[in-house]
Amino acid sequence: MSNRGNWNSKLGFILAAAGSAVGLGNLWRFPYTAGNNGGGAFLICYLLSILIIALPVLIAEITLGRYTQKNPVGAYQAIRNTWLWKGVGFIGVASGFMILSFYSVVAGWTVGYFAKSVRGQFSGINPAQSAEQFKTFAADPWLQLVLLSFFILLTIYVVAKGVSGGIEKYSKVLMPMLLGILLLMLIRSLTLDGAAKGIEFYLNPDFSKITTKTIIAAMGQAFFSLSLGMGTMITYGSYLSKKDSISSSAAWVAGLDTLIAIIAGFIIFPALFSQGMSPADWGPGAMFEALPVLFDKMPLGMIFGPMFFLLLSIAALTSTISILEVPVAFFIDQKGWGRRKAAYIIGSIALLFGIPSALSQGAVSGLAKLPIVNMDFLSLWDFIWGNLSLSIGALMVAVFVAYIWKSSKAIAEIRVSSPFRLAPLWEVLIKYVSPVLILIILLSFLL
Ligand code: PHE
Repeated sequence: MSNRGNWNSKLGFILAAAGSAVGLGNLWRFPYTAGNNGGGAFLICYLLSILIIALPVLIAEITLGRYTQKNPVGAYQAIRNTWLWKGVGFIGVASGFMILSFYSVVAGWTVGYFAKSVRGQFSGINPAQSAEQFKTFAADPWLQLVLLSFFILLTIYVVAKGVSGGIEKYSKVLMPMLLGILLLMLIRSLTLDGAAKGIEFYLNPDFSKITTKTIIAAMGQAFFSLSLGMGTMITYGSYLSKKDSISSSAAWVAGLDTLIAIIAGFIIFPALFSQGMSPADWGPGAMFEALPVLFDKMPLGMIFGPMFFLLLSIAALTSTISILEVPVAFFIDQKGWGRRKAAYIIGSIALLFGIPSALSQGAVSGLAKLPIVNMDFLSLWDFIWGNLSLSIGALMVAVFVAYIWKSSKAIAEIRVSSPFRLAPLWEVLIKYVSPVLILIILLSFLL
């Protein structure tokens, strides 16, 4: 297995896995999904989903990966070689393609906004101008295609270089920097006029707003944000050494990711409310409409603006790398492709799939409001692959680890490197709580 590559250390794994988890999911997707789903009510559902549904699945994925040392399809096959489980692995690989396709569109926006902030295009901007600026930007077809291509090529370039050479090196310094700049933005956002209304919306749950839609959005967001349900954490776990503790790594990754999402809410909600925007109208552009005005009002915003968008682009890159890594590891392990070839071919296909999403924010009107679903293409793709497919994937991992592989064997694998005192609790969660809740939530949504 030595030619598959390994992380250099436990810290390397935590940073890379946290690099996968922390990304646009926290800063872009979380705030506007929370805004569309009742704010505080959503936050509670989200935190519960992380603790009792997603964290147990995170431990299951990492453990399955480390035990089998394989990509998701190979991991299932190594334990139970049937078409059903192979198919489940394939769904993960397919989700990887599809998530990469629309995620890179938004990642391209962060690059575009980096350029805008460097050129001083936020100075003196008011909320209406900021909204207009995003609209013009998102509706420019060539610009969108260039940014999408740029971002996917960047991802391909890093993945082609391999696990510790590429992925690990980039994660080490950047995560602490991102956290630092977020704390500064937090201070400015909380001291804006009208910030209190945003905080109230975020923290004061209105339980009457909790519907099946809220719950599926919250659960899907928990999986999306922790990179679960498509095999990313199986793949990353497969590079984790037998010396490093799975349970504490998982706790660190989930803790950091959740912390950053919560902070993002405290930045975006006050900013949007102080600009008089109503949460029900927030769409995929919410973050890009809110932040320019915030930076304009922030001391040294001319510096923090570009720094923020640069760091966010990098946070998005450490996530897209982990998404592309899943299909790439599949073609390397199962089909004997070289890493470079796999990265270039698969990345290019994802680029093609990304085109409709890139053109769905105003460039092509037919894609901006699809019939029947009444959504733009990017949001639809995000819902199908980012919510439904990941939830199904997470359900299958839980069932597989708990019942096919058997939770006792997973616990033995975890205990190779740590005492795992919470094993009895984890066993109850992964056997009964997590899969049952996912199933109920999925069924109640589909019916
Ligand atoms: N977790 C990443 C984010 O929050 C997105 C992601 C989803 C990464 C699925 C890998 C797999 O930005």
